[in-house]
Amino acid sequence: MKFIFTLIILLLFSWSEVVASTVNLEKGWKFKAGDNLTWAKPDVDDSKWESISTGQSWESQGHENYDGFGWYRIRMVIPSSLKESAYLKDSLQFILGKVDDDDQFYLNGVFIGQNNSKHQTSDSAFRNGNGFYLPERKYTISTNHPDILWDKENIIAVRIFDQGGGGGMYAGIPSISMADISQYLVIDKRADFYKFEGNYIKKTFVVRNTSNVVLNGNLSIAVKLEESRKEISIADSDIDLKSGEIKEFPVSFDVSNEPTKVQFTFKHRDSNLIINDVDESPYILTPKLSETPAINGARVVGVRPNKIFLFTIPATGLCPITFDAKGLPDGLILDKKTGIITGKVAKQGEYKVTLTAKNIKGEASNILTIKVGTQIMLTPPMGWNSWNCWGLSVDEEKVLQSAKIFKEKGLINHGWTYINIDDGWQAGRNADGEIVPNKNFTHVRTLSDSLHQMGLKFGIYSSPGPLTCGGYTGSYRHEIQDAKTYAKWGVDYLKYDWCSYATIAKDRSLPELMKPYLLMNKGLMQNDRDIVYSLCQYGMGDVWKWGAGIGGNLWRTTGDIGDMWEALSAIGFSQTQNADYAGPGHWNDPDMLTVGWVGWGPNLHPSRLTANEQYTHISLWCLLSAPLLIGCDVSRLDDFTLNLLTNDEVIAIDQDPLGKQAIPVYKSGNIQIWLKELEDGSKAIGIFNLGADPEKVTVHLSDLGFKGVHTIRDIWQQKDIGEFKGTYETTVSNHGVKFLKLTAK
Ligand code: GLA
Repeated sequence: MKFIFTLIILLLFSWSEVVASTVNLEKGWKFKAGDNLTWAKPDVDDSKWESISTGQSWESQGHENYDGFGWYRIRMVIPSSLKESAYLKDSLQFILGKVDDDDQFYLNGVFIGQNNSKHQTSDSAFRNGNGFYLPERKYTISTNHPDILWDKENIIAVRIFDQGGGGGMYAGIPSISMADISQYLVIDKRADFYKFEGNYIKKTFVVRNTSNVVLNGNLSIAVKLEESRKEISIADSDIDLKSGEIKEFPVSFDVSNEPTKVQFTFKHRDSNLIINDVDESPYILTPKLSETPAINGARVVGVRPNKIFLFTIPATGLCPITFDAKGLPDGLILDKKTGIITGKVAKQGEYKVTLTAKNIKGEASNILTIKVGTQIMLTPPMGWNSWNCWGLSVDEEKVLQSAKIFKEKGLINHGWTYINIDDGWQAGRNADGEIVPNKNFTHVRTLSDSLHQMGLKFGIYSSPGPLTCGGYTGSYRHEIQDAKTYAKWGVDYLKYDWCSYATIAKDRSLPELMKPYLLMNKGLMQNDRDIVYSLCQYGMGDVWKWGAGIGGNLWRTTGDIGDMWEALSAIGFSQTQNADYAGPGHWNDPDMLTVGWVGWGPNLHPSRLTANEQYTHISLWCLLSAPLLIGCDVSRLDDFTLNLLTNDEVIAIDQDPLGKQAIPVYKSGNIQIWLKELEDGSKAIGIFNLGADPEKVTVHLSDLGFKGVHTIRDIWQQKDIGEFKGTYETTVSNHGVKFLKLTAK
């Protein structure tokens, strides 16, 4: 009895603690679509506003397809006990959860702050930037703020602007709490980035005291290898940080070939509070390249009769390598030193060409099938695009530099071919109506010639609307003329982006969605060269069902990607209903890669995806037979990013000639298994863990259709793991993947 009584007292005590430390604002929100700045005021009568949940978008709560402004309001008491029970008493924080896209936050009618791309208050600037719907909104104010009404009713008003798609406060639980030490002792993981030095990896972490008081305690840093369960202690030190003070912690350890975590534990001496944090370090799975030759990349290539052909044999091995190609159709010639095959073939047909690459260490040969017919792009395109790194600050030098690095760092030897300029190259039109490049590009034809001489291909970007998404000149009313200009410039690839065509289309009916794309296709087909046609309209009207029919070689299936897990996983793991529509010549495009240094503008940063997430990104895209367009500054490729982009067995899954797109064959909790059928009868699977902790997985092989004994090969590590029948057990790291190939014995 006494025990039960004590338990009740304890429960009551801990319950009152919970109540005292957080005010939960999950329920009680009111909503009104539209915009009026007076709605921030406390005395607005919102009794007739509708009730709304903050856990899902306004679209899913009766406002389908509504884009634009909307206001949320809630009334609540802020108890002074929050402050009284806190260790640090200076700041109160309002957590709103996630908001799509931009928000302004008002307390009792007073503007407190906002989150948008420009950080300005004028309405015209109230527009979102890339991936801006992802971060959680938190507004922190001083407990001395005159507009907090302690122990009385307060009114929060949130003004939101949704630029498209889902809108509103859509995820997370809004709440009010005091900012505690974990908010003030900042372990800055992005002040520096991992650098590779030989077999070592190095990074400096910065610990910062942003509070007004001295923070003292013990900080330990340890590096943990997840699979071998090794732990290396890096530091264990007492720290005593004055207000505003920072301390650097350089960390250096061996590069590993398994998921690796740098773990921080800070024990605050005065309050006994423990802060745990973790940083995931890059680890390298791709084995070192062999010196003996290997021929990589696509094994089948398509070209239309009498159209310019250019193919560089992607081969690795000690240089110099000499090439041979037996069985080339009439009209094609090989440069034996560079491995570049060029020319034109008049006769339709399927030509099996035996390619050979030879050096002092040995020889490799492979069959390349050249299909001369109506189809091009028989395997997904591989290359680079300027958007995810340079955004609108792209220029000729950056494009040329990327091409040179494709050669220098050997990317071209793994099949990376296209160098594509995205938005931001156009100046307007000359007196003849011809599109002209802006001052950042001196001579487009010269640029494309240089790329072709290197054995690379050249891509460009436009919109069927009057303006591109970045506000540059689009092709509207100049479609056929632009197609001709592209051919004149030697363009091999066009990304055609809906953007301002939204203002031209009468509605979103299929004929209206198809119309501008059909028109440009007509122009492209009149050219003397094949131009890969990339439709970009974010999946509208289930484009995968009709994209190929109107000449598209690939089409975007979603909105823009960002370099965050939420964006990557939301896009990657939703590619299911379009799977049947991918195949040789026509591919679903879940957007470009966000590994390496990205930034969508002049200032770049290392991808915010962890190492595990980047392995997931590349593995999933290869399983999906997705176009692989590197979106980073290739002049900053480090060992880790190169390992991601130059693993030939991984790339071979993407470039498999069968051209099937993977489908999910198992989903349970955080685990998903995606399976792709390959031309040789074997299957590639990705075992993905979408959860925040590593998980043990038992794969029941027969449930996935694998009967009898199968050899399982680790694709990243390029090694056989063994022969399995019945089940296969493994551990998959948080947000990570095991990428395997299964072949029947
Ligand atoms: C859209 C596209 C992006 C990029 C930009 C350029 O947002 O989806 O991939 O091309 O336009 O402005």
